Amino acid sequence: MAIAATDPGRLPFTPEVEARMASERRRLAGIIPDFDWPLVAPEIDAIQRLKRERNAIVLAHNYQTPEIFHGVADIVGDSLALARRATETDADVIVKAGVHFMAETAKLVNPSKTVLMPDMAAGCSLASSITAADVRLLRAAHPGVPIVTYVNTSAEVKAESDVCCTSGNAVKVVESLGVDRVIMLPDEYLARYVAGQTEVEIISWKGHCEVHERFTGDEIAAYREDNPGVYVIAHPECPPDVIAAADYTGSTAQMISKLDDANASKVLLLTECSMSDNVAVHHPELDFVRPCNLCPHMKRIDLPKIRRALESLAPEVQVEPAVAERARVAVDRMLAIR
Ligand code: 13P
Ligand code: SF4
Repeated sequence: MAIAATDPGRLPFTPEVEARMASERRRLAGIIPDFDWPLVAPEIDAIQRLKRERNAIVLAHNYQTPEIFHGVADIVGDSLALARRATETDADVIVKAGVHFMAETAKLVNPSKTVLMPDMAAGCSLASSITAADVRLLRAAHPGVPIVTYVNTSAEVKAESDVCCTSGNAVKVVESLGVDRVIMLPDEYLARYVAGQTEVEIISWKGHCEVHERFTGDEIAAYREDNPGVYVIAHPECPPDVIAAADYTGSTAQMISKLDDANASKVLLLTECSMSDNVAVHHPELDFVRPCNLCPHMKRIDLPKIRRALESLAPEVQVEPAVAERARVAVDRMLAIR
């Protein structure tokens, strides 16, 4: 909860707001604690009104806090789902509750729409691990080898690439190219994970996710000892020893789907903290062990920033047209692979 009771800019919890939000209070019972409701309700009320006035939707990643994920999001999902769903909306304004590269991807597939990023400083350690110049050097060093770029990159890096991928479709994208060797950027651990799933040779980069790289294989062993029978699900951005110690590895959406057939009463999601909070709501039968790591970039987004973005229609994400044109080709190629 990023709204402080002492915040001078906070919206008042009036009897009118309380009445308008009565059905939301019931829907969000068990997700938003009673003591937070007077702070959260006026924001949700204002965001709902602004969405109607602006013909806007909020696209939220699975790592957003529960008050965003359950409170104001119209569409939630992993990077792949958010990119796909961004192409299907007829809203005029898209607010991206996630990080900057996700908003840029939404803008690439919707050049005529207004895409708002509530906090432009919400970056990603993977996106900042590589530049367009690095990609050009790699291409020169490996002539003729296609470049598969993780969506967790800037539009400039995408523009130098042949096709994008996400953690949910990386193996499929690599195999779709019909070649023996690909360059896969920028996540070293995702590249290694994909290399273990395919015959295609993978040349990787040295980028890491600052959230997932902190998990260790020893930590997983200790959790298994303390929680006999626990089903362990890792994100492919985790280091190889962590993935080896897990029962299943997948994107955030694949992690959620796996919960339905994990056949266990206790699960451990090796990923960002809000994931377990968000999905636990739909799985009261499961006990979530929560050794999570926070993504400081995802956590820059909060309800007041979403509300202010909708009020002012800023900050707006823009991509230089020449860059956008080339980056869009890489994103569209990925989206065409089903
Ligand atoms: P997903 O595509 O699996 O949601 O991952 C995005 C991300 O940033 C993971 O750290
Ligand atoms: Fe980037 Fe990692 Fe945060 Fe995802 S969790 S946005 S990969 S830093």
